[in-house]
Amino acid sequence: MSRTSDLWWKNAVFYCLDVETFQDSDGDGIGDFAGLTSRLDYLAALGVTCLWLMPFYPTPNRDDGYDITDYYAVDRRLGTLGDFVELMRTARDRGMRVIADLVVNHTSKEHPWFESARQGPDSPYHDWYVWRDAIPEGGPEGLVFPDAEQSNWEWDEQTKRFFLHRFYEHQPDLNIANPEVRAEIRKIVGFWLQLGLSGFRVDAVPFLLETDGIATGMSIMPHDWLRDLSAFLARRSGGAIMLGEVNLEYDDVRTFFGDESGDELHMSLNFNLNQAMALTLVRGDAGPLIHNLRAMPALPDRSAWANFVRNHDEWSLDKLTEAERREVFAAFGPKPDMQLFGRGLRRRLPTMVGGDQDRLRMIYSLAFALPGAPVLFYGEEIGMAENLDIPGRMSVRAPMQWTTGPNGGFSDAPAKAMRRPLVAGRKWGPAGINVQDQDRDPDSLLRWTERLIRRRRQTPEIAFGEWRVIEVPEAAVFALRYDWGASVAILLHNLAAEPVETTFALDREDRAAGLRCLFGTGEVDVRKGGKVQSRLPRYGYQWLRVEREGG
Ligand code: NOJ
Repeated sequence: MSRTSDLWWKNAVFYCLDVETFQDSDGDGIGDFAGLTSRLDYLAALGVTCLWLMPFYPTPNRDDGYDITDYYAVDRRLGTLGDFVELMRTARDRGMRVIADLVVNHTSKEHPWFESARQGPDSPYHDWYVWRDAIPEGGPEGLVFPDAEQSNWEWDEQTKRFFLHRFYEHQPDLNIANPEVRAEIRKIVGFWLQLGLSGFRVDAVPFLLETDGIATGMSIMPHDWLRDLSAFLARRSGGAIMLGEVNLEYDDVRTFFGDESGDELHMSLNFNLNQAMALTLVRGDAGPLIHNLRAMPALPDRSAWANFVRNHDEWSLDKLTEAERREVFAAFGPKPDMQLFGRGLRRRLPTMVGGDQDRLRMIYSLAFALPGAPVLFYGEEIGMAENLDIPGRMSVRAPMQWTTGPNGGFSDAPAKAMRRPLVAGRKWGPAGINVQDQDRDPDSLLRWTERLIRRRRQTPEIAFGEWRVIEVPEAAVFALRYDWGASVAILLHNLAAEPVETTFALDREDRAAGLRCLFGTGEVDVRKGGKVQSRLPRYGYQWLRVEREGG
């Protein structure tokens, strides 16, 4: 088993949260590190093995912390560096790793580097950003936030030059062609590794490596630099990882994992599979998911995908065709205020499926069954909803719902001091959805998610094995098999609202084998000759292990 724990990320269960919205400890209406630390036992009991902290660095907060003014500190509202170290120590004690967002494609416009850079070419920091006297031909194309920006270049009155920004105009891009910038990024990475992080969720990787628009040459190829950074991580802290945000087509994503040894990113969030899953769910048809899996590139041994249902941004459907996207919108977010940028949905899953518990559970079971490691976004384990009154992508980032008490147990602050509104209403707000009630109820989503996580951890075939789709005639049934040495796991999902019965044959060498149901609903038998008959209820799922004679 040593190989499996060396590659810990392949069998990890990630949990993404924002310190700001998780737990407030001092009653100022803002979550903080001390609050999060007090909730680590909850996360450990849930079975989470690695936390992913969204940006917690000093920030003017114009993009929820993805706009940083100091890479070596903790935002004062969230606590101190001392509180961060306490969190790290406690997480280690509970056997949990921690990774954090590394946002170095850009800084905040208010970062002292940029403020100095604006003083003109004589500033030592001028060249840390990408400047042009006129908007160049052949600069980067496409806008990330088309609702807010018209161009990737912004005129700076003080400098009398344009600067590059791939995101908001208040987030100037760093110039990675400048060796000083690359050295600084290493220093940032080294700093947080030294404080105990097990790696980073690397923000906007393709934009970080992009050199379009940079006038000077780069002495190292961008991918070689990413490779160097990966080696640097390994030297400083064995086992530290880079989980990249790479929302590109599969062939392009593959290049970010590096060569056959996987020497660049360790993991990448699988946006392609996530979007195919959306279509499969809406249609109740395994086709799109199977099609997508078959197009998915094989990864080097050390590399892995990270799978998720929803994340902190809009549910981007940018990889689907216009017609497919319209299909998903019609089913999951028909009203204009549920949609964003014409490409995504700003809802969480439970409301999209009308609170259907069977469907919800099947979908998380499915996400945990896909090749890769699962990533939960805080609150998914209790079925939290969005608050569409919070603008833009922030709709899914409402405070965590702990109890039925004031502010859902998130904060003791008077309601008017709360910085981020809670989800409202008796059904979706804390009165209807909270940790305390669900913890007491063995049939709750929370307790079910605990079991799902335990089952996922105890099915290492998914993390380390080879997958293969089992062909079945029923379009609504998605059947996946994993082989890992002599171990075989079979995972069945019924994507439809009606019960279904399906049959398939085990491999020739398994004709005499039995099947053990590890987790799920419905019934399954193995008949003579290895013929499997499975009856799945509406939105049913079965996790099975092949048990060979004497095995
Ligand atoms: C991707 C993050 O997920 C998003 O929330 C952020 O706005 C952009 N990167 C810019 O950092």
